[in-house]
Amino acid sequence: MGQTRLPLLAEAPTTYEPLLSWVEEVAELTKPDRIHWVDGSEAEYRTLTDELVAAGTLTRLNPELFPNSFAAFSDPADVARVEEQTFICSKNERDAGFTNNWMDPDAMKEKLTGLFEGSMRGRTMYVIPFVMGHLDAEDPKFGVEITDSAYVVTSMRIMARIGTDVLKKIEETRAFFVPALHSVGAPLEEGQADVPWPCNPEKWIVHFPEERSIWSYGSGYGGNALLGKKCYALRIASVMARDESWLAEHMLILKLTSPEGKAYHVAAAFPSACGKTNLALLDPTIKGWKVETLGDDITWMRFGKQGELRAVNPEAGLFGVAPGTGWGTNPNAMRAIAKGNSIFTNVALTDDGGVWWEGMTDEVPAHLTDWRGDDWTPEAGRPAAHPNSRFCTPIDQIDMLASEYFAPDGVEVNAILFGGRRKTTIPLVTQARSWANGIFMGATLSSETTAAAAGAVGVVRRDPMAMLPFIGYDAGDYLNHWVRVSGKANPARLPKIFLVNWFRRTREGGFAWPGFGDNSRVLKWAIERIEGTADAVETPIGFIPTPASLDLTGLEMTEAEVEEAVRFDADEWHAELPGLEDWFARFGGSLPKSITAELDGLKARLA
Ligand code: GDP
Ligand code: PGA
Ligand code: MN
Ligand code: MN
Repeated sequence: MGQTRLPLLAEAPTTYEPLLSWVEEVAELTKPDRIHWVDGSEAEYRTLTDELVAAGTLTRLNPELFPNSFAAFSDPADVARVEEQTFICSKNERDAGFTNNWMDPDAMKEKLTGLFEGSMRGRTMYVIPFVMGHLDAEDPKFGVEITDSAYVVTSMRIMARIGTDVLKKIEETRAFFVPALHSVGAPLEEGQADVPWPCNPEKWIVHFPEERSIWSYGSGYGGNALLGKKCYALRIASVMARDESWLAEHMLILKLTSPEGKAYHVAAAFPSACGKTNLALLDPTIKGWKVETLGDDITWMRFGKQGELRAVNPEAGLFGVAPGTGWGTNPNAMRAIAKGNSIFTNVALTDDGGVWWEGMTDEVPAHLTDWRGDDWTPEAGRPAAHPNSRFCTPIDQIDMLASEYFAPDGVEVNAILFGGRRKTTIPLVTQARSWANGIFMGATLSSETTAAAAGAVGVVRRDPMAMLPFIGYDAGDYLNHWVRVSGKANPARLPKIFLVNWFRRTREGGFAWPGFGDNSRVLKWAIERIEGTADAVETPIGFIPTPASLDLTGLEMTEAEVEEAVRFDADEWHAELPGLEDWFARFGGSLPKSITAELDGLKARLA
């Protein structure tokens, strides 16, 4: 080394200079009491969770119900991603595009440096080496998160591959790693008592795409603080993907096997809290079809040697929406959770030391402690669990995990679904007319906002490829990238694209389609369209099922009810057009020609 290091670095388990100098720089800025290099071991997890229990951050659950599992309760003002405070600080404002917040990188660094100054005083600074995707991938994507939150360390251990093996490989291969700096922004003065969920009213989730670094301040919530997930595997990775000709997407991946034993892989992009985890863990209600899970939130895809689109899940855990996850709707998730080793955030506690949330069981417990720690009974008139409460569970606890999850080169994608939460207009399923028409469907995807992000809920917004909060660069460039990268495809092996909507409402206000396991009927139709065996009706927006082409065996729905879910409504689509025009106008000419041509085609067909 030849340099004098801070005494705090004496125990560093590495001699890798780029890492040591960054850790030192951060320690000098943030002034922690201690540095802990995370090895990712069981023993370390036990120590950290014990400490978090002692600090009141975690509540140990009854081990007979949920072994080795914990519940955390956040500050009520720190429950979701904060999109208003999320920034892409590219050198040029133009490169962040109109969908992102931007600030000059130097100005932002100056601002953040002020906030991080002494921000870890009185705390331990944890250094977490991690890799998104496989350690033995051809080009492993490394990161190191520095955080002052042990809750973040324990959650990162579930969500990503972390620890000593990763550090060794970074060092051996002298690899680039994304420096990902996180602080809850709550330094402790000498003798000051800590709170169970330290955080700061001021929050900043900031990305520097050119230098591929992340600075996150003030929040302990998953999407803001587990920096391997949204910040790296979507925002920074989308920039890497642009530069290296691949795709980083907000998609689940599942394997579907037909009764004849033929396997297909489906990737699906839905906005946050719009059904990815549920579809990825689906229990088909139709006989003979089998679903296995590969991923539930993030998919990295690249075109393989034969021009086929290959997909991997870069994560190692599930960070799933708890409410609505139940034995009736998602038994596979429930079985995975029941194995334990999970961290729940902002759920309710049962009197026997278990957890509960709306939709977990049909029967509502007579008494609970709600997510704010207050007594709760069914008459309370408020949800017991926060609508964005989450379970964090290792992915290998899913019984239906596909063995291909472990393959570093992933699986071939045969179909891509784009979907959102729309009460009207968007039919249950529409097959795109072509690949270009499918990209148009993705580019114009829309959805009602949910509790996954701070702000109003239920407002329709455009969410291109379900990536609105996650594109790390200009949205028009992103759509151009989709067009350009698919130029590498073998046209015969391009996935078929479908637009789906599980959330259409009837005139009475209920869901028009039962959803969950019955979505297998839509998957079956999509596969049969690929195989050329299912009928469809051509409409101006694409191909929709004929009533006879959807397998409705065992489903208690009248023909009229099915029609209400699947129908194309010309009036609703005429009403949709001005919104599409406004949306495209916002790109200021950076949209690919092939996509604007699709809008012209749609208008002509609707006329
Ligand atoms: P993700 O955030 O995209 O992974 O979405 P989830 O799968 O966690 O689902 C979010 C919410 O939507 C949960 O409350 C689910 O119960 C609900 N949900 C998921 N799939 C369906 C469906 O097919 N129909 C209906 N009505 N609700 C669904
Ligand atoms: P989700 O993941 O997509 O499962 O909701 C978290 C998020 O997107 O904020
Ligand atoms: Mn997500
Ligand atoms: Mn999910």
